[in-house]
Amino acid sequence: MDIIKKVHELSQYLDNDAIASALKIPEETVVDILEGKANVEQIQTQENDSAPVIHVNSVKTAYRQKIISVMRAKGGVGCSVISLGLSYHLSKEIKVLLIDLNLTNGGGDLSFYLNLPDYPHLGVYKDNLLNCVIPVELNFDVLQAPNMTDNEKQKVSQIINHARQDYDAIVIDLPNRDDDLVMTALECSNTLVAVTSDTALEIVRLATILSQYQQKNIIVTANACNLSGDAKEYFTNYETVKIEHDNSLSKILDRCDLPGEKTIFMRGIKQVGDLLFERKQKGILKSIFGGS
Ligand SMILES: Nc1ncnc2c1ncn2[C@@H]1O[C@H](COP(=O)(O)OP(=O)(O)OP(=O)(O)O)[C@@H](O)[C@H]1O
Ligand SMILES: [Mg+2]
Repeated sequence: MDIIKKVHELSQYLDNDAIASALKIPEETVVDILEGKANVEQIQTQENDSAPVIHVNSVKTAYRQKIISVMRAKGGVGCSVISLGLSYHLSKEIKVLLIDLNLTNGGGDLSFYLNLPDYPHLGVYKDNLLNCVIPVELNFDVLQAPNMTDNEKQKVSQIINHARQDYDAIVIDLPNRDDDLVMTALECSNTLVAVTSDTALEIVRLATILSQYQQKNIIVTANACNLSGDAKEYFTNYETVKIEHDNSLSKILDRCDLPGEKTIFMRGIKQVGDLLFERKQKGILKSIFGGS
C-alpha cells in the first residue's frame, strides 16, 4: 500500500480525523502527508499473514513521537525508576506508554512500584494494545511485564509499532540482558537513555553497546553517582546527565506514589526530558528539510 497515495485519495471523501482512524495513523501525520512534509517507510513484517508496518515520520509527529529505550549494562542501577520518572514527567505534556520488558523476573519492578493488578499484561497482547495497557495517570499508561519464559521478540516489535499509533512517546524499561529481545527493542527505538553507576566493567560494557547505536539519540545518565574522569572519557560523544541520590525516593515508592516534580530525583529526570526534546527537534527538521 502506498500510504501517501491512499491519504490523498481518501482526502477527497473524508476529513482528516476519519482518514487517521481508517489508516490508523495520527491525524497530524495525515495533515503532514497532505502538505507534503512526511517521510514514509514501509516495513515488511515477518509474519506472512500480517500487514506491513508503516513508519511515518513527519514534522509534527516525529518531533513528538519518541521511542525511548532505558537501558543499562548492570543490574540495580535505577533503570526502572528512571523509566517510571521519565514517563511520568513526559506525560504532563504528551501521551506516554511505559512498556516493561523485564519478562523473566516474575513480574517487573514497575508492577511492584505501581502496585498494579496481575492482569492485564504484555503476555495477553494479540492485536488490541489498548486492552492490555493499564492507565496510571492522565496521559500515562503502562504495559506491564508478565512472568513468561521467553522469547517475545516478534511480539515486542509489533507492540512497539502498534503503540506508535496511539502514543506520542513510548518508554521501554529494558532488563540487564543482551539477547534478541533487548536488541529488538533497541533497534525499534530512536532514543537511548543509558543508565549507569560508576563501576569500571559496567562503563566499558555500556560504552561498547552504545557504540553500535551511534545513529540514535543517546543520553548517558549517571544515577546517584559521580562519573570518574576515566568513565567520562568513554562517553565524550554523548550528552550526559547526573541524577542525584534522592533519600525521599524509596519512601515515595513504598507508598506506591509517584515522585513530585520538586523532588531531587525528578529534577534530574527533567534534565533528561529537556535534552531529549531539544536534540530530537534539530535532528528531525534537518532530516526532513535537508538543512545543515
Ligand atoms: N537517584 C536515586 N536516588 C535514590 N534511590 C534510587 C535512585 N535511583 C534508584 N534508586 C533506588 O535503587 C533501587 C533500584 O532501582 P531500580 O529498581 O530502578 O533498579 P533497576 O536497574 O531497575 O534494577 P533491576 O536490575 O532489578 O531491574 C530502588 O530501590 C530505587 O528506589
Ligand atoms: Mg528494573
